[in-house]
Amino acid sequence: MTQTYHVKSFGCQMNVYDGERMAELMEAEGMTASDKADADLVILNTCHIRERAAEKVYSEIGRLRREDGSTPMIAVAGCVAQAEGTEIARRAPSVDVVVGPQAYHRLPELLREAKGGKKALDTGMPAASKFAALPKRGVQTRPTAFLTVQEGCDKFCTYCVVPYTRGAEISRPWGALIDEAKALIDGGAREITLLGQNVNAWEAVDDKGRAQGLDGLIRALAELPGLARIRYTTSHPGDMSESLIAAHGEVEALMPFLHLPVQSGSDRILKAMNRSHTAASYLKLLDRVRAVRPDIALSGDFIVGFPGETDRDFEDTLTLVRATRYAQAYSFKYSPRPGTPAAEMADQIPPEIMDERLQRLQAALNADQHAFNRASVGRRCDILLERKGRKARQLVGKSPWLQSVHVDVDGAAIGDLLTVDLVDAGPNSLAGEPAMRKAA
Ligand code: 5AD
Ligand code: SF4
Repeated sequence: MTQTYHVKSFGCQMNVYDGERMAELMEAEGMTASDKADADLVILNTCHIRERAAEKVYSEIGRLRREDGSTPMIAVAGCVAQAEGTEIARRAPSVDVVVGPQAYHRLPELLREAKGGKKALDTGMPAASKFAALPKRGVQTRPTAFLTVQEGCDKFCTYCVVPYTRGAEISRPWGALIDEAKALIDGGAREITLLGQNVNAWEAVDDKGRAQGLDGLIRALAELPGLARIRYTTSHPGDMSESLIAAHGEVEALMPFLHLPVQSGSDRILKAMNRSHTAASYLKLLDRVRAVRPDIALSGDFIVGFPGETDRDFEDTLTLVRATRYAQAYSFKYSPRPGTPAAEMADQIPPEIMDERLQRLQAALNADQHAFNRASVGRRCDILLERKGRKARQLVGKSPWLQSVHVDVDGAAIGDLLTVDLVDAGPNSLAGEPAMRKAA
């Protein structure tokens, strides 16, 4: 029987969540975690969203070969597994198991099959939820936990592979989520981030038979004793309901941070991307959120170099950035994904133009992030202490606006909420000093 395992997750937070659940599955099988170098089983939990994803996985598999030529047992999970299927075991014969994001609850079974000497593959999208088959959540190693509430995507943005790798939108049921949240809190979580590819499309019927959207779930979770903070990501502008916006002004535990990808500031490109918003409708939406929560920190995703993007289109993106003043944001060069409509579009943009646009966009976004941090200096807020800093006595926590804050403390521990005054700001983090009173 294999004794030790190592899970390596690439890509988004949903993969991080899946990776944690895979680890819990392996623990339930009696295995223990170890370093990648000496694990008997390595699970590569892969991402297919951008550039050369599959190639990276193959080189990662190659690097698992040890000096004596042997390899650990290898399972490839995640979205590359879903997209490539049997091709993986054909190209990389050292791979024993290939399992997609909707089937990883079957890992123990698949590993047993593989130990019998044959390759084991499951890239099915079963109607029944994998979640019911996973072990209950236990002790948490961090005070911040992820909870996947929704998976998949029906939006079919023309550049994106997710609707193909993760399948159609599904919402996990109310009771299962309340139970999992309680287990996470019992295990030590003080903050829960609700996850979904389109998290704000989540909907279900509650325990009293009422239809609920994400804001209803957030309001119910906010009542759970011991839970101090709630976040959610990633949202689609088209699913930002009136009641979810209102929750930002009403629910104290809901942190003032919103990740709302826009992708481009050009209406022409947004249309070609099959996004359901325009630059103006997006900005109007942000105004509505700011009206109920003036201090909200905004975050976004951008793609530069989508097929057909002109200088003018790109300038429109910069204009939108200037109008929004993001607290932070992610930006990417467009990468054609096999099987998506945009990969077939004429007028693909040359790499040097993409590079130049990405640099200009990132310079603007970085400047905004630094400005947002500087504007926070002088504020007093609670930080949730998450980890040790580099210096003795230093701990690092997150502000309500998701900024990292370094603080020198005596008598506070990871998992505590500490009231600090923000005293200095860099581009990526802030310094805080404990305020005179300690947070409840
Ligand atoms: N090329 C570049 N970026 C992409 N994203 C999704 N698909 C692609 C692609 N083909 C980006 C989007 C999305 C984020 C998760 O990744 O900005 O919001
Ligand atoms: Fe990557 Fe998207 Fe899959 Fe997440 S869902 S692992 S970002 S391809």
